[in-house]
Amino acid sequence: MARETWSTRMGFILAAVGSAVGLGNVWRFPFITGQEGGGAFLIVYLLFVALIGFPAILVEFVIGRYTELNPVGAIRELGSGAWNYLGWLFVVTGFVILSYYSVVAGWFLRYTLIGITDGYALAGPEEAAALFGTVTTGVDSLLFHAVFMALVIGIIAAGVRNGIEFGVKVMVPAIIVLLVALGAYAFTLDSAGEAYAYYLTPDFGYLVANWTSILPAAAGQAFFTLSLGMGVMITYASYLGEDRNLAADAGIIAGLDTFIAVIVGFVVFPFLFAAGIEPGGPGPSAIFVSLTSAFAEIPAGRVLGIVFFAMVGIAALSSAISILEVLVSYLIDELDVARVPAATAIGVAVFLLGVPVTIDLIFLSLYDSLADGVLLVLGSLLLALFVGWVVPDVARAELGRGIGDLGSLGTAWIWIVRVPIVVVVLVSLYLGVVDY
Ligand code: PHE
Ligand code: NA
Repeated sequence: MARETWSTRMGFILAAVGSAVGLGNVWRFPFITGQEGGGAFLIVYLLFVALIGFPAILVEFVIGRYTELNPVGAIRELGSGAWNYLGWLFVVTGFVILSYYSVVAGWFLRYTLIGITDGYALAGPEEAAALFGTVTTGVDSLLFHAVFMALVIGIIAAGVRNGIEFGVKVMVPAIIVLLVALGAYAFTLDSAGEAYAYYLTPDFGYLVANWTSILPAAAGQAFFTLSLGMGVMITYASYLGEDRNLAADAGIIAGLDTFIAVIVGFVVFPFLFAAGIEPGGPGPSAIFVSLTSAFAEIPAGRVLGIVFFAMVGIAALSSAISILEVLVSYLIDELDVARVPAATAIGVAVFLLGVPVTIDLIFLSLYDSLADGVLLVLGSLLLALFVGWVVPDVARAELGRGIGDLGSLGTAWIWIVRVPIVVVVLVSLYLGVVDY
């Protein structure tokens, strides 16, 4: 059977953007930023996206496009010996991330439904927190986790062309429009000034005092939000049939993803300050608590809320499918399993792994800090070492395909991959492991 490729020129970029934009931007970014001190975190995060995230996207792209294989097969083709285990690390990471990602995505589906049946007019922050408590534990959480995983399995079973390109064209623009509108409304709140100061002013004293937690948090968030460190971008680039300018594509992906995360902050923090909630306090409930109070106040807030939560649900879907696709492409390529049984079997296993998270949120922080603080960072580190030191010539030539002669830029990229990325990631990993 011929390997599938993207059906349109735009298909690849849409799918990669679909993978990048998701809960990492809307749910994870604002609460991590709140926990890590606002502006002090934001500046480190932005630097990491530009200086580490962007070159690391290219690392995954060149491996995928060169080998046209799943991550496990790709590493095996290029490397030898112990490098083969790297592909396995990606598979393990994918299992862990998707299991809790699906649970959180289920909350967004639940909040969509709450808008339809009851609306978001709650009395205040306590009631919003209580609602979050009901949604995130017990049968409700389990049920919506199951619904979300069923959707993910369905799309992946349908295949690359029919499944993955669908939806992204509508979802990303819709999210941007809604976020900008919400951000404009938040701008009119009395709390806006104080919130912006918190969010945008890098407090360097705070940064110096807390760098051991800010650094790994920013590195982890940069990799998570750009879907790096577990082979997603390798897999997606492996379906590229043609020579594209990979650097331009990586720029679009990193730029859009960052833009969306940053505007989420402009929405969340003013509403948290307006409700008198300390920004580091709410953790995983930050987006839900701030938005339910937003939608309670805004004219037509109920409709906006329904549309917003549904859109985030779809954004989460286009990210979740990219994770399942890594696991499934491995079974298809390496073990010759058919797509439908592969998607079903892995999807069910992922669902089961996620069940503890629906019972107690302690498992959410356990899974999340394992995946984000350790696994993704380790995957990115090993991949950078592999590309920078084991196959630099292949990588450099592959990056040039579709761009032309890179000259010293290609060399600069290899050296960024070889040293700064490795050093920063090693330090983050060390701090992350100590923390875990
Ligand atoms: N990038 C996705 C997001 O921001 C999450 C993700 C992580 C997807 C790792 C794939 C791999 O929501
Ligand atoms: Na993201």
